[in-house]
Amino acid sequence: GEKLAALIASRILDVPDFPKPGIVFKDLMPLFADGAAFTEVIDGIVAHHGRTGFDVVAGIEARGFVIAAAVAYAAGTGVIPVRKAGKLPRATLSATYALEYGEASIEVHADAFTAGQRVLVVDDVLATGGTAEATLGLIERAGGSIAGFSVLLELEFLNARQRLSNRQVHALLKV
Ligand code: PRP
Ligand code: MG
Repeated sequence: GEKLAALIASRILDVPDFPKPGIVFKDLMPLFADGAAFTEVIDGIVAHHGRTGFDVVAGIEARGFVIAAAVAYAAGTGVIPVRKAGKLPRATLSATYALEYGEASIEVHADAFTAGQRVLVVDDVLATGGTAEATLGLIERAGGSIAGFSVLLELEFLNARQRLSNRQVHALLKV
């Protein structure tokens, strides 16, 4: 726990005033770019939930895709992309949510999950929790069962846990 948290902390760059004045963007690209660190973090997520603790991994576009694909590969499962509006070609379910900056809609294919399929949801950052709240609800509406929700970084001052009070959140690093 502590070791992974320190590793992640050491591979995050704070970018002031991006994408808007007053927002400090947490850039995790240095973590993704470091093979040894990335492997440890992905293995840490799989170990937390157990290799057999989930049937499929859902990643939230776009930064969540990087993590989801790696976790799915490590566990030998498939991966389901939760996409931004208008990207999926077939019938979808969608949810609209407020972001730390702006508003967005996310979608999954209506037939993405089999009934009761255990879905591990992953993303890079938990900020206000709007994206997570929308995604977890969306997956359940699509028939999936939430097996877990992991993020690399939680920004505690934005109080996402309050918003997600009925959910288990696994954050590898909290700041
Ligand atoms: C960022 C981040 C999370 C989300 C967290 O994604 O990657 O997905 O915001 O914010 P929240 O907890 O306040 O909802 P963003 O929508 O900026 O897009 P990206 O992943 O495509 O870069
Ligand atoms: Mg994102």
